[in-house]
Amino acid sequence: MTKTVYIKTVGCQMNVLDSELVAASLFDAGYEPVESPRKADVILFNTCSVRQHAEDKIYSALGRLKHVKEHRPHAIIGVLGCMAQKDQATIFKRAPHVDLVVGPGQLGQLPALLDAIAAGNGPRIEISLDRKGGSRARVAESFTRYDPLRLVTARPGRHQAMVRIMFGCDKFCTYCIVPSVRGPEQNRPAREIEAEVRQLADQGCLEVTLLGQTVNSYRDNAAGKILRLSDLLDRLDAIEGIRRLKFVTNYPRHMTDDLLEAVRDLGKVSPYLHVPAQSGSSRVLKRMKRGYTAEEYRDMLARIRQTLPGAAVTSDFIVGFPGETEDDYRQTVELVGEARFKNSFIFKYSPRPGTKAVELYGDDVPDEEKRRRNNDLLAVQNAISEEDNRPLVGRTVEILVEGPSKTSRRQRADGATIQLAGRTVHDHIVVFEGPPELTGRLLEVEIVEANAFTLFGRIDSSTEPKQRA
Ligand code: SAH
Ligand code: SF4
Ligand code: F3S
Repeated sequence: MTKTVYIKTVGCQMNVLDSELVAASLFDAGYEPVESPRKADVILFNTCSVRQHAEDKIYSALGRLKHVKEHRPHAIIGVLGCMAQKDQATIFKRAPHVDLVVGPGQLGQLPALLDAIAAGNGPRIEISLDRKGGSRARVAESFTRYDPLRLVTARPGRHQAMVRIMFGCDKFCTYCIVPSVRGPEQNRPAREIEAEVRQLADQGCLEVTLLGQTVNSYRDNAAGKILRLSDLLDRLDAIEGIRRLKFVTNYPRHMTDDLLEAVRDLGKVSPYLHVPAQSGSSRVLKRMKRGYTAEEYRDMLARIRQTLPGAAVTSDFIVGFPGETEDDYRQTVELVGEARFKNSFIFKYSPRPGTKAVELYGDDVPDEEKRRRNNDLLAVQNAISEEDNRPLVGRTVEILVEGPSKTSRRQRADGATIQLAGRTVHDHIVVFEGPPELTGRLLEVEIVEANAFTLFGRIDSSTEPKQRA
């Protein structure tokens, strides 16, 4: 009998990619996907530990699964990803109905682990070494690289895909759990990445997003020659079928001129740079151990604007980091005002056990103050996003149609057209009405309306039938 699997994913794009790869390996082993945990033989949660809130949500969702397990005792419940690596066997204590805990460095073992549990050899736990659990090489080795099979059926659409170019992180920003749960920084060989992008192109993929925690520090030392991200982009740009290349997340200190020039000169690389500042106060940045001052961040932005005048730049900020004064916070507001980011993700500082910030500083900004700074900064950013989006009205932009809009409300009675969503090279979302068959096409739309988050478009009637894909 066919077995069914349900996968719930939270966290960053790394997790979305890991879930795709896990799904592909299970489909390959004969599993079929189902939409509800109640119908699944295997229920997997791919988890995130970056903030407390993300963990709390997973633990309550796991709590709710207790009933599922009571009704269907044969169902296997697995916790994968960053929270598995962080909380390890504690997960069994907090949720005794869990059968399986698998860290991000052990995902390749999943099909075999599920077989073992189904045969009565559970519960199981597979995690990598702690960062202090051995030499760097041994710890790195224990985070097994996991980028095997790419199956179109495991992705939301055939036209877009993510490709990992590096694993882990060695930056150890004082607030951040990622280096502990994702392990040491490891670069994938360029030839491996190239082969994967070729395979994706053969599958009909048009847009590839390269992933790394500090993607622009990518290095491949094969054959005694150092290959940088700019060199890798140059190689990928030549792959037939691929139309767009993006990469996230950039680390400000590694935003070198060769990379900016590659973005400028290579036809397929999108002028879109996510390069989180985290704070506008040099004092806070130092306590975060980010490795740059606010001035240096500004200088980097100036270089971006000079080489890539029209580029979309986006950022992340943490408000309420330990010791952040009103004056520090004002400096962040100032930076946001000056930088005119396309958008910013803003987070309230969440203490992560085991990080330097917890060891060195208290969590001394009250929650209501964090919330005020969060809402206030968001309002500043949203006003900028809206101001900068408005002039796009009347312009024609090229989008890659991703499929039905998530916020779709209107649908014609005949079902011939629905609300679709696409994305520009600047990572703007454009919602427009059109037939669902347009999914996966690159086409031109005229922008007719814009707010801080979304552009609304109309298919340019002169170009509508044009198939560029
Ligand atoms: N590698 C990326 C960030 C990965 S985590 C980078 O260096 O920019 C994604 C975002 O979560 C971070 O940019 C940061 O803004 C936020 N974040 C990380 N740890 C956090 C914490 N302890 N509390 C609140 N936000 C945090
Ligand atoms: Fe975390 Fe800093 Fe590494 Fe980003 S660079 S993943 S914020 S430690
Ligand atoms: Fe979360 Fe892990 Fe990503 S902690 S942000 S899912 S790397």
